[in-house]
Parts: sequence; structure tokens; C-alpha cells
Amino acid sequence: MQLIKLRIENDAMNIAYYPSADGPATTRYAIAYNPDQSINDNLENIKVRLAGLKFDAAILENGLDYAFSDTIVGVNYDRIDVGLALTNLLNIPVVSRAAVDQDGLVAAVKAKKTYLKWHLDYYGQYQGVRNNGQEAMLTVGNGYFGLRGAYVEARADKNNYPGTYVAGVFDQETTTIKDHDVVNEDLVNLPNAQFITFGVDHQEPFTINDRDVQDVYRSLDLKTGILTTTMLIQLQSGHMLQVQSQKLANMQDWHRFSIRYTVTPLNFSGSLQIYSEIDGSVVNGNVSRYNVFDQHHLQTLGMESCGNTMTLAGETKSSKINYTFGAKLTSPDCETSQLIELKNQPQGVQQTLSVEVQAGQTYTFDKNVVIATSNVANDTLLNTVESSLAQASFDDTVKASSDYWAKTWHDADIKIRGDLTSQRLTRVNIYHSLVSTAALESGQLDASAGARGLHGEAYRGHVFWDEMFMLPFYSLHRPELAKQLLMYRYRRLPAARANAKAAGFAGAMYPWQSAQKGDEQAQFTHLNPITQAWDPDNSRLQRHVSLDIAYDVWTYTHITQDTDFLAKYGMEMLLSIAQFWISKATYDETTGRYSIAGVMGPDEFHENYPNNQTPGLKNNAYTNLMVAWLFDTIAQLREQLDNAAYQKAASAAAFNTELANKMADISHKLTLEINKSGIIAQFEGYFNLPTLDFHAYRQKFGDISRMDRILKAEGKTPDAYQVAKQADALMAFYNFDVPTVQKLIEKLGYTLPKEYLTHNIQYYLERTTHGSTLSRIVYAVLNQLDENYDQAWSLFSEALFSDYYDIQGGTTAEGIHLGVMCATLLLETRNFGGVSALADQLQVAPQLPDHWEALKFKHTFRGAHYTFVINHEKVTVTADQKRSITIAGKDYQLQAKKPLTVAYAHN
Ligand code: BGC
Repeated sequence: MQLIKLRIENDAMNIAYYPSADGPATTRYAIAYNPDQSINDNLENIKVRLAGLKFDAAILENGLDYAFSDTIVGVNYDRIDVGLALTNLLNIPVVSRAAVDQDGLVAAVKAKKTYLKWHLDYYGQYQGVRNNGQEAMLTVGNGYFGLRGAYVEARADKNNYPGTYVAGVFDQETTTIKDHDVVNEDLVNLPNAQFITFGVDHQEPFTINDRDVQDVYRSLDLKTGILTTTMLIQLQSGHMLQVQSQKLANMQDWHRFSIRYTVTPLNFSGSLQIYSEIDGSVVNGNVSRYNVFDQHHLQTLGMESCGNTMTLAGETKSSKINYTFGAKLTSPDCETSQLIELKNQPQGVQQTLSVEVQAGQTYTFDKNVVIATSNVANDTLLNTVESSLAQASFDDTVKASSDYWAKTWHDADIKIRGDLTSQRLTRVNIYHSLVSTAALESGQLDASAGARGLHGEAYRGHVFWDEMFMLPFYSLHRPELAKQLLMYRYRRLPAARANAKAAGFAGAMYPWQSAQKGDEQAQFTHLNPITQAWDPDNSRLQRHVSLDIAYDVWTYTHITQDTDFLAKYGMEMLLSIAQFWISKATYDETTGRYSIAGVMGPDEFHENYPNNQTPGLKNNAYTNLMVAWLFDTIAQLREQLDNAAYQKAASAAAFNTELANKMADISHKLTLEINKSGIIAQFEGYFNLPTLDFHAYRQKFGDISRMDRILKAEGKTPDAYQVAKQADALMAFYNFDVPTVQKLIEKLGYTLPKEYLTHNIQYYLERTTHGSTLSRIVYAVLNQLDENYDQAWSLFSEALFSDYYDIQGGTTAEGIHLGVMCATLLLETRNFGGVSALADQLQVAPQLPDHWEALKFKHTFRGAHYTFVINHEKVTVTADQKRSITIAGKDYQLQAKKPLTVAYAHN
């Protein structure tokens, strides 16, 4: 093992490099500690000094002895978890001298690595959006509810936001602004039942603040789903306490969550109070730019407190969804059957417990919470909250959660050897993908996966095309869950038809932003934070969302071969969507081609042509390619259904032979604009637009990702330039493999020069600001397909880190970006692992990043369960049934449960 040893002191960071653990140090550095720089900037100097050296671990010689971490050092009146920081910086485990002395180096390093691969930890107290981002990342939930990872002792303020959301609970309010009625439909922030705190000697209850909190460490255990927060607190009165909360969602009885609250008085014996509350006075306040709107969605209808139990019932103001929150406080250390209700809360119910405590002893209190809402099908819980509470316990919740996650890690984990950070963040992404959706699998909830999970209020919890980035992961690991996301869309087919009709078209036009009913929830205006002006918002013209939903139907049915779903729901959706596009396409006699106008591609910087009042663009390449694909795909999928089933779907969609003929005609006559170099124009007329000097803008503004806002503040419009927020023209290459897209283009009668893909990728990358987190991951895939592995890796890793580092500087505070999280998982298995589910049998062509030693994961494809173990030389695959598979271009027969190992030529 190659090692570094570190001692961080006030004026110097001493580093020694050991090429072998048993041998002497070959290099020693004393790097001056610069107190004017941040600790992280100081640590960066270590990285620079060690550049080029190889090492597997670091030993920290002077870590402090804390219960929650052994790699914290105090330096210049500040404290830092050097372990966490250096692991982020150098991607190695950092062990303490104490652990090495106790367990030996090898065991200490192994234990630390295992810990790091399964935990998301933060040390210290952070302010504002930084803390809000961590709250989003530390969210616990189960797809029914999401509970932001706020401190349980926090109320909403500028640093803290304890939001609670239930899937499908939306509410609409209207706000009049400048004589305009603006209607907003929000995923409702429901009553805060996670609130629990303590007080001493009947003084003010403690709420989180940086004066009293001496130290805080938060750790999300991905194996169990438990978020543990440990604090050392010194009150102004001098009382010192260690307070720990453990919070988790019940993954089986998904109406429940539990908090174990333990308090240890450190320097006093006396009277301790525990305050437990359900706060019904909360509003939607997570996104400050929405504060100009009416954000009040709750109406409390009743509160009760009895014994150790309290309930709060209410309904959402306009959608009239009923909710009841119940909470029970118990303790193994004292009697809680007669809690005192505090009546000073008009919109909340609070109970208090008073206990006599002894210094140095730990007291445990369990708060179990039940959430019932009237939007759950076949559920009577609203009337039985108390009895459900009576059965709820912290230990049961731990068991239910641990069992669920154990199963998840068994069948949906992606194991990466050789890259600690990628491993940890991959698991974080898998965790959040299910925190956002798990309960939907029950079929009792009429909801889909919101773009920002159940983790915050950005985009008001709405459902976008982002589902497309999630569906492959869900289909390969949780097919029933994937189906339920599609059922949310199927149930909104009538709304999509009404939407199309209102716009003057036939068939089904799904809304760009979907919420409760499936009507369009995208706004007409958008607040420009630089100018504070209301700019028009045409984003609803991203009609490609219907094509993305069609792609989702295909992804699911292709991966699962669920022909029953296709017959009953999928085909009707596809035909209804196709009908919309048939009605949208217009034939041009002069070119002999069809055009589609009045749309936007995924790039939201282009809403219409400059100097043109007509909203939307003509012949967006992504849209037209996806229409061509849909029309061909319907013809192919039709073959999978018997005639009666197809006719039933066709009649439900009012799809006749005439339309089928028209569809066949349009499918090979759609217009694309492709220039001499083979660049596919994002839309017709794109090449007429001027380019922007990105370099000059970067020099002036630094971060230019939201170039639209910068340009608008300068009185310009992004419509006028070749500048894109995200991948657009090349999106189809993300959805399919290169030959499929190429065939589509050729079928439309266009020829492409050699190297066209490379040229297109570079051309559009130079014009893209990555203002959406969905952009980098798409370009990572494109570069990977184009064998530009370095570029692919750097875009992938930025995508993987995007929420962890909140690379957009504050958007994670308003919810995770679930689309990119799931897309990273697909890239890892489909592109790095090379296991593609796009054809009728799995195709394997690995392209592991150089530093990944091995990758292991499972897939469920067409009823068979596959396990893949892939390294740089060979692939080992096992299926539980007899199956054919293609590895490195050759077909193989897999025998049930017999591993097959194939060596492949690696790049
Ligand atoms: C992106 C869209 C995305 C939406 C929700 C926007 O910033 O441009 O592509 O659907 O966020 O995630």
C-alpha cells in the first residue's frame, strides 16, 4: 500500500510520502498553512504538492477524538473534517492514527473505505442555500412522502427548510400581479411533523442556531436509510448537552416515519423538557423567487392531543385533499402516557414532556409519525391514524427500512471498484431515485416522479420529460414502478387530448409541465432575476415531451416485454400521440416534405425566431427525428399485438387506416436541415444566427450557464444567437445507438459525411452553456459513443457531482435533479459497462474508465435476471434463465445460472 501521512497544524501541513507502508518516507513536505485562505484552499495545496505520486490511503496523525468522526482537526480556531475534505479532493480513504493503532493499517483502511461507500456525511453548520442543498441531499422518504433532511429542531428560516411533501398532493392558488391572474399549482409543503426539540429548566425550547451549536455531524446511512445528526450544544445558560436524532422513513408501511431523539446532559442534572410538534402553519417557502405568489395551501381543520398522541387534520385549500398527521412520543426512560399539550399554537399542536435527568446519562425519546392523505386509492388510514400510530415503533421502522434497502442493494446496486467517490455518489443517486418513487410501485398513488424528487419545491414538484432519463433505470430494476410512472401518464391521456384540441390539433398533446390533472402547468411568464422583469415563457412549446413519453412507453415495453401493458394502455398512448403529430405536420408541395412548426426543442434558450412574432421554431431536429422514430416504432410494435388488441387500442385512440397511411408517408418525408459539413441544424434557419463570444462573456461573468438571463439583462435575446442551454439537436443519439439514428436520418433521405458525429458534438458543445443539469450527461454519452473518452469522463463526473456540489450554485437547495441522477446510472451500465438494452437481446461492449478496476451490476431484461461483472479484460455474465447475448460483437448462449466469461479487446 502506498501512503501519505499528514499532520495539520496551525502554521503548517506536514506530509510524508511512503511508497510502501513498511518502508521509510521518501518525500516530506511542510506546506505553510495560510490562515487567510479557506481550509479547503489550503488542502488544495496538498493535492498540488502530491501531483504525480500514487497513493491508496492517508493516515491523519492528529485527528481529534470525536464520537462521530476521527478525522476532525482543529486549526486556526476552526475545525474541519480533514478526512471528508481530503477524500473529496484526492478520492482516497483517510484513516486516523488511533484507528491504525487499534486495528492495523489494512483493516482500518478497509473499514474506512466501506464506511465511505455507504455514507453521505457533512460536518459543521452551513448557512443559506449551502445548508438547504444539504437538506435536499439528506432527504429521507419512500416515494409517498419526502422529508427534507433539515434539523429536526429547525423551523423554516433563511438557513433551514424542513419541507414535507406527499406524492400527488398538489394545490392551485391564484395571485394577481399587475392585473394578471397567475395560477400556480404547487406540490404542497405539508405540516411539519418532524419537529422535536428540548429545553432545560422550562426555559425557551431550543431551535437550531449557530451560537449554541458547538459541533454538528450529519450522516446518511445508505444501507439502512437512517439519517443521524449528532450535535454538541452549549446553551447561553451554560448547559451542555449531546443531542442526537435518527430519522428515517418506513419503506414498507410508507405512511410512517420515525425519529429517535437522544439527549445526554453533559454538565448538569435537573429538569429537561422534550417538545414534540406538528406544525400546520407552514407555507411553501423553499423557492424565494416564488414568494411573490400566494404560497398558502393548507387549512387546518382540527387538532387533538390525548395521552402521548396528537393529531392534526386539514385539507389543501383548493384541491381539497384531506390530510391527517399523527405523532406519538414514547420513551424507554420515562413515562409518556400523559403528555401536556401546549395550546399556544393556533395552527399546530405541541406536546411537552418533562423529565428529571442526571448528568452523563443518555435519555431516549421516540417520535413516530403517521401521515394519511385522501389521494391514496383503497386506503382507510385517514380514519385510523391513531390505531396505526399505536402499532408504530422506531425499531419496526428501522427493520422495514433496512430490509427494503438490503433488497435494493442486492438487486439494483452498481458496484464500482477503484473509485471511491463514484461509488458513493452512485449509491446516493440510487438512494434518491427510490426515495422519490418507491411507494408508487404499490399502484395506490396517482403520481409520477417529479423533476426535483420529493426533495424541494423548484418547478413546483411538476413532472417533465425528465422521466425519460429515469425510466431505463426503473425499467431495468423495478419494472412495476416504471409501469406506474407510465400509468400516471395514461390516466392523463384525456387531459392530453383536451390539451391538443384546445390548441387546434388532434390526438394527445401532453403538457410540458404536468401535475395533478395533466393540464398544462408551465407558466406564461418567467421572472428574470437580473432585470426583475416578467419575460414571456414559451417553454410549453416543448411539444417533444409527448415523444419522450412515447419513448418511455417503448423503453418499458421493450425492456419488460409487457405486452399486456402495451395492449391495454401503451398502444393507445402511442397512437394518440402519433395522431397529434400527424395533425401538426404540414406538407410543402415545393419540397415534397413535411414540416413541423411552432415547437421548441429541449434547448430552452430558443423559444422563437428573432424578429418574428410567431412563437416556436420550425423543424426542430430532435422533434422531427423522434416523430420519424415513433411512426416506425408504432408499425413495429403493432406486430407484437394480436389484431384484436391493436384494433381495440386504435379504436380507443380514434386511429384509422387513413391516419396509418398518412403516418407511413410522413415517417420518411420529414424535414431536417443539414449543412455541407454534416452539421444537423437544431432547427430550420439555425445557421443564419450569429455565434456568441463565449470567452468574452466568461471573462465578464464567470459562470455563463444561464446565458439567457445574462443576455436578457443586456436587452438581448438568446433566440438571436447560436447558444444552447442544453443538448438538443443531438438528443436522439442519447436515446438510441448511433446506427439507429443514422438509419432514421438516411430514411428521411439525407446523407451524412464521415466523422459527422464528431463534428456535430464539437460544434454543439462549443455553443452549449449546460444551463440544465441534463446537458452534461447527454454530452457525456455522446462523447462516449464517439470514443472521446476523456471528454466523456469529465462531463460524466460533473454530472455525477452536480447535486453533491450543487454546481448551479443554489438549485439543489430547491430539490435534487432526479433526471441527471438516474441518467448517470444508465451511463455507468449502458456506456461504461457497455450493457445496452436497446436491441432484442442484451449487447455488451464495455468501455470502462481507465481507473475503474471493475464494475458489477444486475439487470432484469425480458423476464431474466442478469448479473454482470466487468473488468478491463473480460466480462462475466450470469442469467437465471437460458438466454442469448451479444458480447463484443459475438453471439453467445447463456445457460441458466451458469456464468459465462468472455475476454474482450479493451480500448
Ligand atoms: C431543463 C429542462 C428540464 C427542467 C426540469 C430545465 O432547466 O431545461 O430540460 O425538463 O429543467 O428538470
